Parts: sequence; C-alpha cells; structure tokens
Amino acid sequence: MDAHQGLHIETHPREGDPLVRARRPDPCALVLFGATGDLAQRKLFPALFELARAHLLPKNFAVVAFSRSEGDSEAFREHVKASLLKFARTQPLDEAVWNDFAPRLELISGGYDDPKSFVRLREELDRVAQKFGTQGNQFYYLATPASTFPQILQGLSESGLLKRQEQADPRPWQRLIIEKPFGHDLESARALNRELAAVLDERQIFRIDHYLGKETVQNILVFRFANAIFEPLWNRQHIDHVEITAAETLGVEGRGGFYDETGVIRDMVQNHLLQVLALCAMEPPVSFGAEDIRDEKTKVFRALRPLEGREVSRAVVAGQYEGYLQEKGVKAGSRTPTYVAMKMNIDNWRWAGVPFYLRAGKKLKRRVTEVSIHFKSVPISLFSGEGATCQRLQPNVLTLRIQPQEGIALSFESKVPGEDVNIAGVTMDFNYQETFQRPVPEAYERLLLDCMRGNATLYARQDSVEQAWTFVTPILQALESGEGGPAHGYPGGSAGPDAAAALLARDGRRWTGL
Ligand code: BG6
Repeated sequence: MDAHQGLHIETHPREGDPLVRARRPDPCALVLFGATGDLAQRKLFPALFELARAHLLPKNFAVVAFSRSEGDSEAFREHVKASLLKFARTQPLDEAVWNDFAPRLELISGGYDDPKSFVRLREELDRVAQKFGTQGNQFYYLATPASTFPQILQGLSESGLLKRQEQADPRPWQRLIIEKPFGHDLESARALNRELAAVLDERQIFRIDHYLGKETVQNILVFRFANAIFEPLWNRQHIDHVEITAAETLGVEGRGGFYDETGVIRDMVQNHLLQVLALCAMEPPVSFGAEDIRDEKTKVFRALRPLEGREVSRAVVAGQYEGYLQEKGVKAGSRTPTYVAMKMNIDNWRWAGVPFYLRAGKKLKRRVTEVSIHFKSVPISLFSGEGATCQRLQPNVLTLRIQPQEGIALSFESKVPGEDVNIAGVTMDFNYQETFQRPVPEAYERLLLDCMRGNATLYARQDSVEQAWTFVTPILQALESGEGGPAHGYPGGSAGPDAAAALLARDGRRWTGL
C-alpha cells in the first residue's frame, strides 16, 4: 500500500545510551578463504568497506585473502575495487576510505591441501600483526565450497593457526566463520560438527546464516518482546495460522551446478526459513544473551512435528521452474526442486493446532520475503443479516516484511464512510526507511562485526543446526525417493505450482497473493 495512506509514525528518540550497546571490536585480522569468489566480491568486501566507511572497523585491522588462484596483492586490490564500484552499499565509492582500506588487503595464493600454504599464511599473519597492530586476534572466514571445509580446517589446525580456546575471553582470540551449506543432510552435518569440535570450542565457531543478520529479522524479537500488546495474542487462542514466504524472481543465475546438488530445501528452508520460524515461534528468552535466545530457538526445532515417508506427499509440494533443466550445470532429468511449499506443525503448548505454512522458490512472480500472522475470525458477524448486505469479514493479518520495503503492516476492517454499513479492509503500515530515514544495513555488515566482537547471538549453534537437519532430512529423503510426490512444473514468473494452492485450499485457506 502507498505509504502516504499509512499511519503517521512518530518515533520516540531517547537521549543517552542505547539500550544494548554493541562492544567496539578488538584489533584483529580477517583471513578470508575463497576471496576471489562470488560471495566475497558481492557481499563480504562491500560489507567490510561499509563498516570501514562508518568507522565501525577497529583501527588496527587487516585482511589476508587466501585464494587458490594465482595472483598478487596489487592486482587483487584492483579486483576488489572493481567489485566495490558495483556492489558497495554507498555510492559513489569514498576514495579516502578506499585509500586507507586498500593497503590493509593482502593476497596469498596456495592449495588448501598444501602445508606450505599455511606456513606462508602464518608468516603473513605475523607480518600483518606487526604492521597493523592486530595483536594476534584472528578470525577465519570459509567462503568456499563445503567440500573444502575439512581440508582448510586441517591445514589451520596442523599449522597451529587455529587452536582450541576454552577460556571465556581469551587473548589473543581465534574464531572461525563457516558458510552454508552446513552439511548435506543430518549425518554430514553431524560429521562436520564433530570435525569442528575436534579442533575448536563451540564458542569459537560462528555458523553464518545471513538471514539472522537482516535488520528486519532481528526486529522480530524486538517487536515481540519490547511491546506488551502483541505477546498476549501470540498463541493458539488468537492465531489461526502463520505463513512464511521467501519468493525470488531470479533463477539459479550461473550457480546451476551447485544448486542442482542443493535444491530449495537445503538452500533456503533448512537454514533461513527455519531460523525465521524459530524467532516467530519461540518463547520469551530469559535474557537477550546469545545462549538464552539460542536455547529457546532450539526448543522450537525440537517441537516440530516430523514429516516422513508418505506423509511428505500430503504436507509438502515440490516444484521446478520450466526451463530449469536447460540451465548450465543442471543434470539431465534432474528432479531438484526450485520451489517448495509445506505445512508444518509445532507440537507445543503455545502452537498446538496452528499450522505454519512455508514457501520458498526461485523464478516467481515477485521478490518478497515476509511472515504473515493470520489472526482468528471474529466469533460472529454483527454486520450481516436481514436487510444488510452480507459481507465476509476478513480476519486481521499482521505482516512482518523482511524484504523488500522492510516494514510491518496490520490489516483490519473499517467502516467505509456513508450511510450504509459497508466494510472495507485497511492497513496500518510502518516502513523502516521512511520512519528512520536511513538505509537498512546489509546482513553481512552486522554479522562480521558481531564475530569481531565475539557475539554469537545471530549465528546458528550446533544443536539447532542438527535439529533443523533432523526435521528436513526425512523430507529430502522422501522427495528424492519419489515417495514424497513429484516435482511439479511451474512457469517462470508465476506464483508457483497449482498444487501449492491446493495444499492450503484443503484446509480452507489461501496463500497471500504474490
Ligand atoms: C542464499 C541462497 O543463501 O540466499 C540463494 O543460497 C538465495 O539461493 C539467497 O538467493 C537469498 O538471500 P536474500 O538475502 O537475497 O534473500
């Protein structure tokens, strides 16, 4: 809806300290594996640069990029600059910031299986610590294909660059950020967790899920627990069902090979959507501390009703966009789903009987990620009866818009001015950018900063990753064996397969239109 029709929102700026002050990061060096890759160039360097621009990086900071491709630091800096010119959040690029940032970038080339590479890395880190005063604090970011994780981990551990630190606040510290996909199924995720645990303490491991770094996702907790009026309604007494949507317009965009091995459930549901679901469904945590929040999320995963075997064909609809099989890297006859819709239940006191419907897909009509909380209908309608036009009242819907047009909207019924009782649905709409008059930061900015601060709240913990895999693995197995039903075709630019609409129609409900 047009923002001008929305409610005028006055923010209440409070003078003084923020309620939770983020700690300044310590001096440190980042070692980035996969530094010439897509993620590093499109997301990580732009995020680091934005942090530099906003003076949020520590003064004593450096990046050692580790790449399997040969190259020298000067050429690498030029490559990074070209990416920043395209992808940096604030344009035009601030040359003064770049001139300070560029000398802090060094490139090392070498094989992940070559112990000599790690010797060179160690020498480079010593040099960087001397030159930039990073004090030996190091965090390693694995922005590489999952198949390389064990090798890199072994190289870092055997060269002594990564050691277990059991103290609460060790100096200097060593941390590891690990990108998704975190395993391929429950068994491989457990194996990876074991490998990590053999080298590191859980507090040193930062499993990234960039959805958790999105401002709007973080705001789910503030919205729920900094306001008194919603929480009493946030349960089975008042909520009819919850819809979580992550629709994309893009297809696999040159990642056909990777995507075909992954599919939408591993790519979007196991991590991003289940994390969003957990934040919406969890109980109030004891505190805003990382472990308290993560404990509550884990309980939600434990309460998910399992979907297995034939059940999957009733509760899950998989789809594949037309033309997917012609994408580069996709195997002939592939059944990999690019779309999924599913009905889930959380078997606990708060949510018993309230279905959670999830859908995610590529090549859809519109790009939108949102959560819609559909409230129950009024018990009886006073506005239909003899002589009156029978009007169906629409239940209230609260929409948490994660992207784009980040915001929150509440729909309710209103009398249309006039002598008849005519009722129309209206919406109160809060828009982040308009209200706060500033752009919403990128998720990776926040997450990189949090790792430097040692704050793991927005990272996934070992148990929740395994719980999420416990839920999705039987679904994957059923779909892969065919027991879970076919992958329905759908035209690019549509709202997904018809079978997804039928999934909700069986319950007398409809998806929110894309
Ligand atoms: C990534 C997936 O994790 O998330 C991509 O691998 C997907 O396939 C992306 O496109 C979506 O992220 P966002 O931030 O654009 O919603």
